[in-house]
Amino acid sequence: MNTDLGVGAETCTMRRREMAKYTVVTMPGDGIGKVVLPESIRVLDAVGFDAEYVHADIGWDFWINEGNALPERTIELLAKHKLGLFGAITSKPKDKANKELKPTLQGKGLVYFSPIVGMRQRFNLDICIRPCLSFPGNPLNFIRRGPSDEVEEPRVNAVIFRQNTEGLYAGIEWTNPPDNVYAAFASHPKFKVFASTPKQDLAISTRVLTRNACRRIVTAAFEYAKKHGFKSVTVCEKPNVLRETSGMMEEVAKEVQKNFAGIEIWSTNIDAQMMWLTKNPEIYGPIVASNMFGDIVSDGFAGLVGGLGFACSANIGDEVAVFEPTHGSAPKYEKLNPPIVNPIAMILSAAMMLDHIGDFDKAKKVRDAVAAVVAEGKIQAYDMMRIVGGPDSLSKGAANTIQLTDAIIAKLK
Ligand code: NAI
Ligand code: MG
Repeated sequence: MNTDLGVGAETCTMRRREMAKYTVVTMPGDGIGKVVLPESIRVLDAVGFDAEYVHADIGWDFWINEGNALPERTIELLAKHKLGLFGAITSKPKDKANKELKPTLQGKGLVYFSPIVGMRQRFNLDICIRPCLSFPGNPLNFIRRGPSDEVEEPRVNAVIFRQNTEGLYAGIEWTNPPDNVYAAFASHPKFKVFASTPKQDLAISTRVLTRNACRRIVTAAFEYAKKHGFKSVTVCEKPNVLRETSGMMEEVAKEVQKNFAGIEIWSTNIDAQMMWLTKNPEIYGPIVASNMFGDIVSDGFAGLVGGLGFACSANIGDEVAVFEPTHGSAPKYEKLNPPIVNPIAMILSAAMMLDHIGDFDKAKKVRDAVAAVVAEGKIQAYDMMRIVGGPDSLSKGAANTIQLTDAIIAKLK
């Protein structure tokens, strides 16, 4: 190819990259985010995805050195290129965050705010999709005892649609609330039980939902159900107690459902759902929930299909979309060389990006390659072997991160 073009390899690469169809903003972040993200790019390259990648800063180092874990330059890159791959970030409690700020930034009233939550709010990435699909042959798949005591391994294919920007994670909260806020709360008849508590001993986190955002997340779940042939959408809330907010989600779901003939609404309460998910997880398809309940129920289902090493996600807004594994930065594994963590969650997140841009064929190829490696069972990261992770995992037969990615890439060919 170089000879045909009459240019050297480097020029050729640049030329290809200049003409790449997509530009993807890569945000490795902290810890193992820096390990798994490059692995997903290797897979994307191998499947023939035509993109160039632009690095963007995010995470703890930027909090320490700049007082902002999500620098404006990263926001600008995302605004420009619209597609992002994100690894993971480290975050720490308030007092630790303040102590670790570099001395010249201390005492300036800087407050740490999660860059993920910030990114979701800034670009209104309000639709979070977390597929929880079991790959046959995964030793981590949920099993249960059947009616004659036989072992059953139900096929799980739940997809959680989590409202991503509102509710309990919107960040509207106070300890020792200001007078006007206190007065507003005090005006509610049910506040009487808190009236004798001094303000400084009151912590308040609010749960605000809007009809519009409820409609968007519910509609996304129904559209998915329609496209993939599911006959139900489960709304997982708690409307018997949270009458206003969960009540609104339910009400909107009933309205939206009218446009989707043949797809039923199932209503479950979050607490009961967490019990049922180990009884009959195979009956659920798309599940829609507000922010915190979606976080909880998606972790629950992820635990049935391999846990953090397999849990992928998409954060989708009108313009920008960011794809990330749901695991964190697992700092204890950051420095291991070779790395041992499972790259599959990140690789499946990259496959979700391919779906998002409509390249279903390549997305399927990636998932099929992961499925083939899992089914074969020869190359497994330490988590798949159910052993404790550490430098000695490899001597116990675990594959390292790079070997597992290589095996997936080999199945693409
Ligand atoms: P974590 O997800 O980083 O790790 C929990 C445990 O899960 C690890 O010790 C490891 O045993 C396992 N694990 C995670 N990812 C794995 C992978 N790819 N392969 C194999 N095993 C894996 O959660 P943790 O320990 O609670 O938090 C560590 C840091 O990450 C904290 O600073 C936390 O705030 C942050 N965090 C960030 C998230 C994000 O960036 N989306 C999400 C969750 C936590
Ligand atoms: Mg979570």
